[in-house]
Amino acid sequence: MKRFNLIVAFCENFGIGIKGDLPWHIKSELKYFSRTTKRTSDPAKHNAVVMGRKTFFGIPESKRPLPDRLNIVLSTTLQQEKLPEGVLLCSSLEEAMKVIEDKNDVENVWIVGGSGVYKEAMASTRCHRLYVTKIHQQFECDTFFPEIPNSFREVAPTSDVPLGVQEENGIKFEYKILEKQSE
Ligand SMILES: NC(=O)c1ccc[n+]([C@@H]2O[C@H](COP(=O)([O-])OP(=O)(O)OC[C@H]3O[C@@H](n4cnc5c(N)ncnc54)[C@H](OP(=O)(O)O)[C@@H]3O)[C@@H](O)[C@H]2O)c1
Repeated sequence: MKRFNLIVAFCENFGIGIKGDLPWHIKSELKYFSRTTKRTSDPAKHNAVVMGRKTFFGIPESKRPLPDRLNIVLSTTLQQEKLPEGVLLCSSLEEAMKVIEDKNDVENVWIVGGSGVYKEAMASTRCHRLYVTKIHQQFECDTFFPEIPNSFREVAPTSDVPLGVQEENGIKFEYKILEKQSE
């Protein structure tokens, strides 16, 4: 069974979004997201990013689909014709995982939001790690990260994760990795 990781940035009040966009502008954090979700150990493979309809259309038009990754959008209302070429449409997270499992060129699967997709993903036995950027500030938000189940524990960051408190434009933030403990 193929597993997946989840990647998210949330602020002190657990917000992740406002009006379809991110509540903050932190360039280095976006670069971290890009780098992390693109990284493969096999150069012949690429990764998949799985996201809800609103997250996909919240990405600026010029930046979507996310390059060098297989983009999969979850929706029960959208038609395939409304998505750019190469972007896959699935009606459930499990369907997306089955589609990915049928491909042999996908190395890692990243769940990239939003709220409901994160909740379903964290409850799944397929979920391995949460790559969390904790933003040390409160922001006005209308979309929030669900409660993290107790089965997740913080683990030591891998060598590719910047250590300690980062700062950009006066906003402090920190990269963390949590891993689901086996039952
Ligand atoms: N800070 C972060 O790291 C981060 C990450 C991602 C997103 N965001 C922000 O979060 C906001 C968007 O998130 P959101 O929670 O509002 O929406 P979302 O999860 O991106 O999209 C919700 C829609 O996705 C579809 N969907 C979700 N789960 C599904 C499933 N299991 N099966 C089939 N379809 C499914 C449904 O579409 P249909 O109604 O068409 O069925 C649902 O209405 C934006 O503000 C975005 O910028 C922030």
